[in-house]
Amino acid sequence: MGGAIARALAAKGINVTIANSRGPESLADFAGELDEFIHAATIEDAATADIVVLAVRWSGVAEVLGRAPKWDNRILIDATNAVEFLAPDSPDVTDPANPFGFMGLKAADIGGRNSSEMVAEWAPGARVVKTFNHIEPPLLAHPQDAHGKGVVFVAGDDPAARTEVATLLDRLGLFPAHLGPLSSSTSIAFPGGTLLGLKLVKP
Ligand SMILES: NC(=O)c1ccc[n+]([C@@H]2O[C@H](COP(=O)([O-])OP(=O)(O)OC[C@H]3O[C@@H](n4cnc5c(N)ncnc54)[C@H](OP(=O)(O)O)[C@@H]3O)[C@@H](O)[C@H]2O)c1
Repeated sequence: MGGAIARALAAKGINVTIANSRGPESLADFAGELDEFIHAATIEDAATADIVVLAVRWSGVAEVLGRAPKWDNRILIDATNAVEFLAPDSPDVTDPANPFGFMGLKAADIGGRNSSEMVAEWAPGARVVKTFNHIEPPLLAHPQDAHGKGVVFVAGDDPAARTEVATLLDRLGLFPAHLGPLSSSTSIAFPGGTLLGLKLVKP
């Protein structure tokens, strides 16, 4: 997901710094022809940006955020979902009680909380905006079809941050739809979000 977001931004001429768990050397060949705009760095360096996109698996979220410098009101886009990625031989894959086993996923136990509000607690001082988490990566490469622009929901407590992120989505060729405060992101959180599965297009 993070790679798709980085490529979509770079394709619009927007500079992006990317990081992963294996270090910048492992990302040396990632950018390809977009290398003018995509730069690899450590997590600590990448997380100094004015707008940071969080696109790691839920199990790594707290650890990654613990390595970020002070947020000082910078924007943190939460593209994550509170799910566990299952090993192919995990019994959870075929457990009839797990409706997402066929996808190799299982809902993480977050005690009924809103996962983005947990992200906000792990990133004190960040203006957290939830978006990207409810779409599939190919939409970023093909944001529009013959009928119009793909709709992407945006939720966050800070209206200015929401607007800034919406402007970014607009630059990517997507249509941002404001949901409201971060608490409203429950409706786009996987699993369980009531707006999930909708493929909306803005003519
Ligand atoms: N894929 C989708 O269709 C989709 C759609 C919407 C939302 N999401 C959400 O987006 C997030 C990422 O999903 P994904 O499918 O892109 O997973 P992924 O393919 O496993 O990619 C995860 C990325 O996070 C990096 N990472 C993992 N642990 C890290 C750590 N401790 N420190 C720094 N980097 C770390 C990984 O780097 P290394 O490879 O070096 O470990 C990798 O680049 C998840 O929360 C997922 O729920 C995914």
